[in-house]
Amino acid sequence: MHRVILHGSCRADGRSAALADELFNACIEECPDDGVSIVSVSSTEVGPCIGCDKCRAAADEPIHLFEEGDPLLPQETVAESGALFHHCVIDDDMNEVRKHLDAADELIVVCPVYFASVPAQMKALLDRLQPYYFTDLRTRPKRPAVIHVVGAGGDPHGFEPLIGTVRSALSVAGFAVELVLDWVGKIRADGEITAEAEEYPLPPHRRLRSHGPRLRRRLRGRGSGRYGRGRRGRRGERRGRKDRDRRRGRRLGRLPGCGRFP
Ligand SMILES: Cc1cc2nc3c(=O)[nH]c(=O)nc-3n(C[C@H](O)[C@H](O)[C@H](O)COP(=O)(O)O)c2cc1C
Repeated sequence: MHRVILHGSCRADGRSAALADELFNACIEECPDDGVSIVSVSSTEVGPCIGCDKCRAAADEPIHLFEEGDPLLPQETVAESGALFHHCVIDDDMNEVRKHLDAADELIVVCPVYFASVPAQMKALLDRLQPYYFTDLRTRPKRPAVIHVVGAGGDPHGFEPLIGTVRSALSVAGFAVELVLDWVGKIRADGEITAEAEEYPLPPHRRLRSHGPRLRRRLRGRGSGRYGRGRRGRRGERRGRKDRDRRRGRRLGRLPGCGRFP
């Protein structure tokens, strides 16, 4: 069993680094027979994805050559998915990061909130998971992941976008986020934990694609034109922006992951 802690802050001595260290020590103390490694954006150079799409095509050679007994051998499901043959053209630390992620049975993400989402360095790393998109890892059984969200607190906009971003990228890399722990406002600047985290278990992903045909059917049933009634309501009255926003809000409220976090 190998656990990987992915630390998403560019500060090596901040709140989230203190929590990542606590979790690392807890893993060693409580599961001494298991492996654990920390990958931190504070100590890796990972540039942003440039969208060149070169990772779409499978290469002839695998991304890493492994030796017998390597503690970071890829998971069977990763090796069989063909993921090792989808390379990125950018030559930086991402190959090493991928080696850890590929070996993980379980992933623990510890990430600060930056304006409701992830820091730019973490976003760069997550975007560089795109090569996995072109493998069949997405359709295989997922490995469990947990997200610990860290923040100073006081911002009223929560961290919904952070969860969506991390969840989406990790899903492509073969992980399913099962639990979110909210540490916002609960860790002092010196790293001392002052309160327990709130826990938010996440149900398994519903396939969003299935919304498409249903929505299309509904629109067809109601409207006369190709895309329904357009801007006119059932009785032909013109719909205002307020009405549209209300409907959109209701629909968004039903999507997985929306409206669940503070
Ligand atoms: C650009 C920026 C945006 C931030 N946005 C938020 C926020 O939306 N919510 C929050 O609670 N804290 C916010 N913070 C505070 C950080 O989450 C806090 O400083 C945290 O300790 C950073 O993690 P670290 O100490 O592990 O580096 C922000 C900090 C920065 C620099």
